Parts: sequence; structure tokens; C-alpha cells
Amino acid sequence: MVAWRTPKVFIPREQIHGTVQRLAEEIRRDYRAAPPLLLSTLKGSFMFLADLVRVLDLPVEITFVRLSSYGSGTVSSGQIEVVQDLYEDIRARDILLIEDIIDSGRTVGFLHAYLAPRAPASVRVCTLLDKPQRRQVPVTIDYCGFTIPDVFVVGYGLDWNEQYRHLPDICVLEP
Ligand code: IMP
Ligand code: MG
Repeated sequence: MVAWRTPKVFIPREQIHGTVQRLAEEIRRDYRAAPPLLLSTLKGSFMFLADLVRVLDLPVEITFVRLSSYGSGTVSSGQIEVVQDLYEDIRARDILLIEDIIDSGRTVGFLHAYLAPRAPASVRVCTLLDKPQRRQVPVTIDYCGFTIPDVFVVGYGLDWNEQYRHLPDICVLEP
């Protein structure tokens, strides 16, 4: 347990929910004929995924992989490991990756390489948050919620040292 720092609201819940609605409309428009398999990365995306599927109004399937990219704190280790593997057969499936945040781009780059040998029909990317200033690996984002500056955010699923995931707003931490 590390010392609790006061979270300050950065993106309020009402705005998040409006954006989730907008993303759902975009996804529904594109996938109406053939609903995708949503592949969500644990743990950060759990709240976004849960809100998204409830307004999506599409008969999607959902699966998870768990990756670790951050050791602890706010600095990426650069090393990505699969902590919980994908067990579904995704051959010829349309995959929509559901991400909480794209920062360096390494996670999404890793996922593309991880999925490619499993021969999906397509892989698109949906992220709630994008921090383009921090990009190290180029990433194509098909559905983007918010573009944010280089600040470390917590809440709405996102953590700092496993804390703050439960907060209903996206927040920054007071020093
Ligand atoms: P990337 O591989 O550098 O693009 O980082 C993606 C992962 O880093 C996300 O799924 C988060 O787990 C974590 N991450 C990046 N920026 C933040 C942040 O501002 N707050 C919390 N987690 C973050
Ligand atoms: Mg994380």
C-alpha cells in the first residue's frame, strides 16, 4: 500500500459517458452486418468495456488477455508479457481491440504481432484515451475517445500502483 494522493477530476463521468455513446454509435455503424469479437486488455479497460457493451446494442462476443507493461508507477518498463493468454480460436474473426489508453503504442504494437499468426480476418483498435505525444511505436486508432496531453491519469479502470481504478471519473493525482 502506497500513500493515498488526492485525485482531481480531469474528465468528468458525464463527459466519459457521452463519449462512450459516440464511440458505440461509430462501432455499431461499421459492424452492424457482422458483430466483432471484442478483445479487451486487463485490467485497465474493464470499466470502459463494461460501459461500452451496454450501449453498443450489438451481439458481440467478449474475450480478454492480460498483459503487463508497467512494472509499477508511471514509467513503462518497455517489456510486455502475456500474463493471461487468449484461448479462443480467432481465425477469420473480426477483432476489435478495446484499450483504456494508448501511450507509447507498444502494447497495441505487441498485440498486433501476437494476433497476426492466429489469422484473424481483421483487427481494429478502439481506445478511450490517446496520448499521442508519448508515441514510440506508430499505431492506427480506428475509434478514439479522448486525445489527452502527456499527463498521468487514473480512475475509470486506470491505476497507479493498482490504486484508483474504482474512481468513476478520469482523474489526475495532486502532487
Ligand atoms: P503503451 O504500451 O505505452 O501504449 O501503454 C499502454 C498501457 O500503459 C495502458 O494500457 C495502461 O495500462 C498504461 N498507461 C499508460 N498511460 C497511463 C496513464 O496515464 N495512467 C494509467 N495507466 C497508463
Ligand atoms: Mg496499467
